[in-house]
Amino acid sequence: MDSQLIKTVNKLQDAFATVGVHNPVDLPQIAVIGSQSSGKSSVLENIVGRDFLPRGTGIVTRRPLILQLINRAPATTSSPVSPNSEKDTVSSDAQENPDEWGEFLHLPGQKFYNFNKIREEIVKDTELKTGKNVGISPQPINLRIFSPHVLTLTLIDLPGLTKVPIGDQPKDIEKQIRDMLLKYITKPNAIILAVTGANTDLANSDGLKLARDVDPEGLRTIGVLTKVDLMDQGTDVIDILAGRVIPLRLGYVPVVNRGQRDIDQKKSIANALSAEREYFENHASYRSKAQYCGTPFLARKLNMILMHHIRNTLPEIKAKIQAALQKYQQELLQLGDPLNDGSNSGQANLVLNIITEFCTEFRTIIDGNSNDLT
Ligand code: GDP
Ligand code: NA
Ligand code: MG
Repeated sequence: MDSQLIKTVNKLQDAFATVGVHNPVDLPQIAVIGSQSSGKSSVLENIVGRDFLPRGTGIVTRRPLILQLINRAPATTSSPVSPNSEKDTVSSDAQENPDEWGEFLHLPGQKFYNFNKIREEIVKDTELKTGKNVGISPQPINLRIFSPHVLTLTLIDLPGLTKVPIGDQPKDIEKQIRDMLLKYITKPNAIILAVTGANTDLANSDGLKLARDVDPEGLRTIGVLTKVDLMDQGTDVIDILAGRVIPLRLGYVPVVNRGQRDIDQKKSIANALSAEREYFENHASYRSKAQYCGTPFLARKLNMILMHHIRNTLPEIKAKIQAALQKYQQELLQLGDPLNDGSNSGQANLVLNIITEFCTEFRTIIDGNSNDLT
C-alpha cells in the first residue's frame, strides 16, 4: 500500500488516540466476490503482498475471512522482541520478521510470525467448522495482521459463487453463498472487487451481477479480470477495458496471478509480480497501456479511492474535534476563573495549558492533512 497514504492515516490515528478516539477515519472494507476459483484469494493476497491465504482449484475458501490489517510502527531496537522468545509464539521457519505477525480471534494471545502457519491455521479452523468435505459456513474467521507496511483497513475474502451443490453441500448452496456475500457487500462503505476470469464470458459474471444488485450505479465496484494469461491465443480484454462490453464507472483492472503450478512450486509474490509486469509489457495488446494493467495499478486505484474517502470524511473529523473543544472549554469555565479563585488556580491553569497544546497540535495535523489532500 502507498506509504504516503499510510503516513497520512497514521498521523490522524495517532492524534485521535491521544484523546481516546480510535479509528477516526473509518476506512471502507474491501470485499472480493466472484465465481468459485476465479482468483479472489489470489488477488487479495497480491494486494497485501504476503503469502498466507489458502488458494487452489475447487472450493478452497469456505468461510468468510475478515482480515484486519493494522498498521503498527516497528519495535525500537531498545526493546527487542524476539519472536521465538515469546511463550505463545508459534515457531517457524522462513519469511519471518519480528515486526509483522498475525493473530486469530479464536486463538487469543497467540502470535503467528510465520505466514505459512497462518495459512495452515485458516485451513484447520475451516475444516473444524465445516468438515473436510466441501461444506461452507457463514461463520467468519477473524484474522488481524500487524505490520508497519499496511494500512489500517479491513479486507474480506469470501467463498465463491456456485450453482451446483457437490459433496456435503446443501441443495440451496447458491442462495446460502449469495446471502453470505450480500451481508458484506451491501454496506455502503464496502468497496467491491468483482473478480471475473478473463477466460470466461463477462456477460455471465456472477460477481458483476451481484455487485450490480447492491451498487447499481457502480460507484464502489472495481472490475478485476484475472487469468488474462489463460485467454485463447489472439484474444484479449481490450474491449472490456475500453468499457465496450459492460461499462463500469471505476473501470476494470486486468491481472495475472500465480497459476496452480506456481502455487505448487511455491513461487514467491515478488517473482509473481515481476512476471505479471513482464507479461503486460511484452504482450502486443497491452504493451501500450501496461501502466493500467496488473496488481500495482489495482493497488493504486484502491489507494485513490481510499484517499477520496479520507478527504470526504475530513470535514466530519474537524466537526468532531470542534465539538470536543467546545465541551472542554465549557468544563474549564465551570472550574471558575483561575485568576480570581485562589484555591484552584494552579490546577485549572495546568488543564488549560494542556488543552491549548492539544488544540494547537490537532489544528496543525488536521490542517496539514487537508492541505495534503486538496
Ligand atoms: P478463488 O477460489 O476465487 O479464491 O481463487 P484462487 O485464488 O483460489 O485461485 C483458483 C485457482 O486459479 C488457483 O489454482 C490459482 O492458481 C488459479 N489462478 C488464479 N488467478 C490466476 C491467474 O491470473 N492466472 C492463472 N494462470 N491462474 C490463476
Ligand atoms: Na478456489
Ligand atoms: Mg478463495
